[in-house]
Amino acid sequence: METTYKLMQFLDCCPSAYHAVRWFEEALDKKGFTRLRESEDWKIKKGGSYYCTRNGSSLIAFHIPKKKPLGFMIAASHSDSPSLKIKPRCEIESEGLIRLNVESYGGLLIAPWFDRPLTVAGRVMVKDGSAVRTELLYIDRDLLIIPSLAIHMNRAVNEGYTWNIQKELLPLFASSEDKTDLLSVIAEELGTAKEDILSHDLFLVPRMKASLFGANREFIASPHLDDLECGFANFEGFLSAENKNAVPVFALFDNEEVGSSTAQGADSTFLSGTLERIQECLELSANDCHAMLSRSFMVSADNAHAVHPAWPEKADPTSRPKMNQGVVLKFCARGKYATDGISAAVVRMLGEKAEVPLQDFSNRSDMLGGSTLGNISIRHVSMMTADIGLAQLAMHSPYETAGATDPDYLCRLMKTFYESSLSYDESGRLQIL
Ligand code: CO
Repeated sequence: METTYKLMQFLDCCPSAYHAVRWFEEALDKKGFTRLRESEDWKIKKGGSYYCTRNGSSLIAFHIPKKKPLGFMIAASHSDSPSLKIKPRCEIESEGLIRLNVESYGGLLIAPWFDRPLTVAGRVMVKDGSAVRTELLYIDRDLLIIPSLAIHMNRAVNEGYTWNIQKELLPLFASSEDKTDLLSVIAEELGTAKEDILSHDLFLVPRMKASLFGANREFIASPHLDDLECGFANFEGFLSAENKNAVPVFALFDNEEVGSSTAQGADSTFLSGTLERIQECLELSANDCHAMLSRSFMVSADNAHAVHPAWPEKADPTSRPKMNQGVVLKFCARGKYATDGISAAVVRMLGEKAEVPLQDFSNRSDMLGGSTLGNISIRHVSMMTADIGLAQLAMHSPYETAGATDPDYLCRLMKTFYESSLSYDESGRLQIL
C-alpha cells in the first residue's frame, strides 16, 4: 500500500498536465537526470540520463546504456484529463451574477461536475520584457460551483437528461456587485500586473483530494486517475530499473483526450524526433537504427474499464477486468488497441517474471470502445506495441474510482519491463532478455 499512498500524494500535486510535467521534472532533477532543450544541440553520453519536455505538458526521459543498445523499451501514458476549459474573455454577467464561459475538453461525464467546489488549474502566460514567462496556476481555495437547476423546475431531470454545456455548465464565479473578473484573481494569485497577462490554458478542477475508501480501504478515488495512475506507475518502474542492454524511455503525452494531434501529442514528432536524436548522438548507421526499432517495444499504459456491478451486461462476456486483480491487457481487432498476439505474449512473459497477475479487456463486439495513444504513436515510430492499463470505474468523471492494490502491480510490471530487452535468436525467434 506504500505505493498507493505515494500515488495519492502525487495526484494531489497534479491538478493539470502542466503540474504533472513539473512534478516529473523535479523528480528527475533530484535523481541527477540532465535536462535537454529541444532548441539546443544535444550532447548525449553513454551511461547518461536525460529528459526533455515539449510545451510544458509532454515529457520524455531516457537512460543511455554504456554499450551499444539493442533497442528502446518505451512506456507511454498521457498527462491530460477531460475537463471544462476556460475561454478567453470568460465573464458572463446575468441576473446579478457572474459566471465563467467554458467549453468541454475531451469526453467528460457531465453529471458529477454539478454542485461541488471547483477551482482552476493550468498555466498563465505573462509578459516579461521581451520574453513570455509561463506561470503554473492552481488557486488553492473553493472558487467556483456549477449549480444545478432545482428538481421543482425540471421534474424530468431524473428520467434521463441531455445537458447543454454552453447554457448549463458555466460555473458561478462572483456577484456582479463585486465588479471583479478572473484575470484580477489570477493577477493577485501570481503577484503580477493584470495588464501583463497575455493568455492562459486553464481548466476547472474539483477540489476533492485523492482518498482511500471501502470497508478495508480497498478502493482509491481521485481526479485524474485516467491516466496519471499509469503515468506514476510507469515512472516508478522507470526510476527503479537498471537496463544495460536497451534504452529505457519514459514518455508522457498531452492531449490524448482530444485525439493526440497537437505538437506535443502522441500524434506528433515528439517521440520519433527524440529517438532519432538519440540515435544520431550515438552515431548509429541507418542500418543500425532500423534494426534497433525491430528490437524495440512500446507499452501504452492507459486505464481500462472494470466491470461495473450495476452494469455487468456492458462488459464483454469473457474478458471481464476487476479492480485489485492485476494489470489489464487490452485487445481490439480493429487496432484501436495496438496489442496483438506477439506483443501480448511479451507482456505475459514479463508479468510472469514480475509475478504480477494479468487480466484481459475487450469491448463487447456490439459496442464501440474508446481508443488510446498506442495505435496513434506507432504511425510515427512503428514497433511492437501492447496496450495495458489498470481497471477503474467512472472513467472521465471528475472523481474516478480504482483498486488500491493495483498501482503496486503496475509499478512492479514496469520495473521488470524497463529491465528487459528484446533480441532474436538464430532461427528468428523473439527472445526476452
Ligand atoms: Co486515458
